[in-house]
Amino acid sequence: MKMLFDNRMLFIIFLLLFAMVSSRDNMLPNHLKLNSALTCRLVAGLTRDQRSVCHELPDAAAIAFEGMQMAVKECQHQFRWHRWNCSSLVPKSANPHASAIMKRGFRESGFLYALTAAGVAHAVARACAQGRLLSCGCDPLGYRASHDPRGRARPNKWEWSGCSHNLAYGIEFSRKFLDVREKVDDLQSRINVHNNNAGRSILSSHMEVRCKCHGLSGSCQLRTCWRTTPDFRVVASTIKRQYRKALIVAQEELNSGMAVLKGRPRGRRRSRARPAPKSSLLFFEKSPSFCEVDPKTDSSGTSGRVCRVGRTSRSGSCDLLCCGRGHALIRKSSVKPCNCTFHWCCRVDCQRCKDDKWIAICK
Ligand SMILES: *[C@@H]1O[C@H](CO)[C@@H](O)[C@H](O)[C@H]1NC(C)=O
Ligand SMILES: *[C@@H]1O[C@H](CO)[C@@H](O)[C@H](O)[C@H]1NC(C)=O
Repeated sequence: MKMLFDNRMLFIIFLLLFAMVSSRDNMLPNHLKLNSALTCRLVAGLTRDQRSVCHELPDAAAIAFEGMQMAVKECQHQFRWHRWNCSSLVPKSANPHASAIMKRGFRESGFLYALTAAGVAHAVARACAQGRLLSCGCDPLGYRASHDPRGRARPNKWEWSGCSHNLAYGIEFSRKFLDVREKVDDLQSRINVHNNNAGRSILSSHMEVRCKCHGLSGSCQLRTCWRTTPDFRVVASTIKRQYRKALIVAQEELNSGMAVLKGRPRGRRRSRARPAPKSSLLFFEKSPSFCEVDPKTDSSGTSGRVCRVGRTSRSGSCDLLCCGRGHALIRKSSVKPCNCTFHWCCRVDCQRCKDDKWIAICK
């Protein structure tokens, strides 16, 4: 097999090294925490305040970077059929906030703020419960020892126990590490913090309860339950739905220093601006088409993208994705094992078949 050391591979190696470094650091005495300190210095685009949080709590910061990478991966999944597909965030840095799109006020920027804030809280909450961090452990608030005073076990009684993911600490660290970027008290910073909060609030509302039965086999006289963070895909899909109905910040807000941000659905100029609900995303700048290459908006253009032939309204359709430039059909052949037969015992013989597929590519 031919190994290609492409960007993705290097990136995975980087992440693995990163994970090793971050999990090992917990056990190291202070003077050996060099690797984390180095990480804090090397990651691009951190503000001075972020660097100081990073030096103060290097193990939690390392987990935060993992959470942000998870968010970028999810972004790529959620936007795989969009013109802007998050690909520009990957090779840059472990820190998505270093990229150009995060300096803008697009709907996409709002989505990324919410997703990365949720990703950091999610990763840290889990890491606390897994014992990977010095500064936190299982969520203590989830624990309630309840004893039946008469010593009789009631059927289906349950109590908090076990080890809950520490959402409170995850959210606190996400605030401490990300919101600190927004020092200037201008509208853009307030919108960024609002979107960070929206992501974290969506994460909170999806926390799950897991339980385990105890007692005579199958009786489940007592259950112990604990809280866990949901699969991150679920959180990302909800934030994606909020992206679709994101609210544009009302013009009159731009100059006023109102405490509550208001917004209205885009395209409905006449509807009144309302205070934005906690889980809504806000934006203030119309997105570009993302059709052409433009580093200023982190757009790689759509030329060369695989698109879907057929219904034009479908996401990823060649009509939408290729921006009217049209598409070309190219033949992609690969060799696959086929017609496999099993011989007793234990051998499988396969033929090698050429598999030709036509795929559509944007011009
Ligand atoms: C995203 O877009 C880039 C640039 O157009 C392209 O190279 C990449 O393959 C796309 N990624 C996916 C998952 O389609
Ligand atoms: C699989 O085997 C069958 C019968 O031996 C043959 O007709 C067919 O062409 C083979 N398929 C491929 C893809 O080679």
